[in-house]
Amino acid sequence: MTTTSRSVRRRWWWALWAFLAVSAVGFGITSLGALVLGGEDASLIPIDPDVATHFLSILVHGLPGGVALLLGPFQFVRPLRVRYPAAHLLIGRIYLIAVVVAAVASFYAATVSLSGFSIQVAFYLLAAAWLYTAAQAYRTIRRGEVQLHRIWMIRNYALTFAAVSLRVFLITGTGVLMPAFPSLEFEQVYHASGWASIVVNVMVAEYFIVQRTVQPLLQRRQRREPAATPTLAPAPAAQGE
Ligand code: HEM
Repeated sequence: MTTTSRSVRRRWWWALWAFLAVSAVGFGITSLGALVLGGEDASLIPIDPDVATHFLSILVHGLPGGVALLLGPFQFVRPLRVRYPAAHLLIGRIYLIAVVVAAVASFYAATVSLSGFSIQVAFYLLAAAWLYTAAQAYRTIRRGEVQLHRIWMIRNYALTFAAVSLRVFLITGTGVLMPAFPSLEFEQVYHASGWASIVVNVMVAEYFIVQRTVQPLLQRRQRREPAATPTLAPAPAAQGE
């Protein structure tokens, strides 16, 4: 790879990182600040007055969720990881604990949610994938499998970041789509935003995993062992065919 293309890629990476960090901080501070200071009235979602623990579950879910959202971007900065490995370890542990607490609370929040079946299913699947990818990230690093740990953490943070994507889609949907298509209802836009946030974030994460982790590894291997490299060229026809 040429020096120019490497520096272009590095610039793209830092642009993406800045976008993640700024939107995570922006979303974390505004939505959680509003909930903590404004209470139930500041909530964007309907809170069931008959379920005393509904709003509490949103707080128990949202606060550690916000911690994970804020800490995540720093774990992907290589110079920080290399210079301060103990800080990476500590922040990583706090991140994973925050994800587990937020995910468990989100199962409850999804169960008592008044927002409707389709978005409840999305939240259940998201929470399950959030826990699964966190467990895989932990398991792989305990075994010393650094590259696999990196891949699982990219997947996990993409799911954490679904909280931000959902709000971006929701704001776009209510601000742009609903005025343009008056038959659209808030619930439809909310459900579509929830599902879209999962699918889009997973696709972006997988693109990143292939481009930034798998492809460089394969290229390095190809340079080391050119003869053993698998090829996409068709296999030679067998004798007599
Ligand atoms: C990625 C996995 C996540 C899942 C499965 C999940 C699940 C949920 C569920 C079920 C609700 C209630 C929604 C409703 O009843 O309509 C909710 C609300 C909320 N979540 Fe999450 N969430 C996730 C990530 C996050 C993260 C990372 C944050 C970070 C701040 C967060 C912050 C919030 C907040 C603030 C609310 C309340 C919104 C409001 O009342 O205005 N969530 N989430």
